[in-house]
Amino acid sequence: MSNLQPIRVGILGFGVVGTGLYQVLTENSDSIIQRVGRPVTVKRIADVDWDRSRDVTVPDELKTTDAYEIINDPEINIVAETIGGLEPAMKFVMDAIAAGKSVVTSNKEMIARHGHDILAAAAANSVDVQFEGAVGGVVPIIRTLKESLDADHIYEIMGIVNGTTNYILTEMSREGLDFQVALGQAQQLGYAEADPTDDVEGIDAANKLAILSAIAFGRRVDVDQIYREGISQLLPEDIAYAHRMGYVVKLLAIARRRDDDSVETHVHPVLLSQKHPLASVSGPFNAIFVRGRACDEVMLYGRGAGSLPTGSAVAGDVIDSARNLTKNAAGRVPCVCAGQAEIVPMGEVSSRVYVRMKVKDQPGVMGAISTIFGSQSISIACVMQEDTDGQTADIVWIMHECGEDQLTGALAAIQALPIVEAIPARIRVEG
Ligand code: HSE
Repeated sequence: MSNLQPIRVGILGFGVVGTGLYQVLTENSDSIIQRVGRPVTVKRIADVDWDRSRDVTVPDELKTTDAYEIINDPEINIVAETIGGLEPAMKFVMDAIAAGKSVVTSNKEMIARHGHDILAAAAANSVDVQFEGAVGGVVPIIRTLKESLDADHIYEIMGIVNGTTNYILTEMSREGLDFQVALGQAQQLGYAEADPTDDVEGIDAANKLAILSAIAFGRRVDVDQIYREGISQLLPEDIAYAHRMGYVVKLLAIARRRDDDSVETHVHPVLLSQKHPLASVSGPFNAIFVRGRACDEVMLYGRGAGSLPTGSAVAGDVIDSARNLTKNAAGRVPCVCAGQAEIVPMGEVSSRVYVRMKVKDQPGVMGAISTIFGSQSISIACVMQEDTDGQTADIVWIMHECGEDQLTGALAAIQALPIVEAIPARIRVEG
């Protein structure tokens, strides 16, 4: 045992992540002493509801319902915020920083929206604020970007950063399920919330992309400027077509830095080549694929949610902050952003695109549609029409890279043709 004073931790919020954090810190306490050189102990845990059943048992003397018994405790060095949401988490975090505590948090929404203010306060008070658990659960992407790849020029991030949607899409793909059925399964298994909006509409992924792109590119990214489409409108027939054409369908969070330093940021379903490393990431797992000038390609993979995986990521931050405190180096890795990113409007973004149309099965249809694509300088990479019922045909197209506005204009003209009944799918293609 070390004779040095322990580093004392207070946990705010004892739900899924807080309990995982407590378990990791207590079950691995011996190896943590060895790694940090002194004990790292949980002194107090604040939660408003101690009657709720949990998988872990906590000594009564650790429990409180008052967050300020932690924030104002001079013996506590590190505050772990695992409440989630904007308030009261934000107030607690700012007050903890003002009280001279280092802070670790798994709160993606708070960091995405207010990370700049929080990190500015941390710098002013010479404390750490770390948030590995906010993106990708256990996947160590924040530290990788902030430290391991810090010297590189990162220009692209593509991530599967939402486990709920990746689980739903995996089931739609494997079993041919409708979105609603797969969502119901995800809810039964505890992957999806009763109100799944944040996950299925890409809101959760956009928060995570704002954090990742800001760190990777060194510019703050306004989460409200991130273009976003969810997966609730996806149809199993498009997933089946994609599969036959060599693609899987994934919800990707994508950020690209252009040569002029402007930034593309978008979250939406993608037809991803089955050969892309992200294509094999199934079920509730997350992975983040990074490209940089020097590193070329890096991919990190792991469980994107869950008590112990996310608790492990937060505990890693606690250990790092404990080491920094031990070496009088709190605030060692500061905010890496300088200024606000200029976000490229989505209409100016280009990509390859998959389009499915329902058309009348009669002579001249293919020619009429191709003529419109040609007149808008959109080049066709691949087209497929299968045997039909003689009345209506499904035609699926993959277009070479074209601009969003350019394609929108062409599809409006095509939709106006009397031979076109509907355009039920337009999905971007990557990989
Ligand atoms: N709701 C998230 C997901 C996990 O489904 O991936 C927490 O960030």
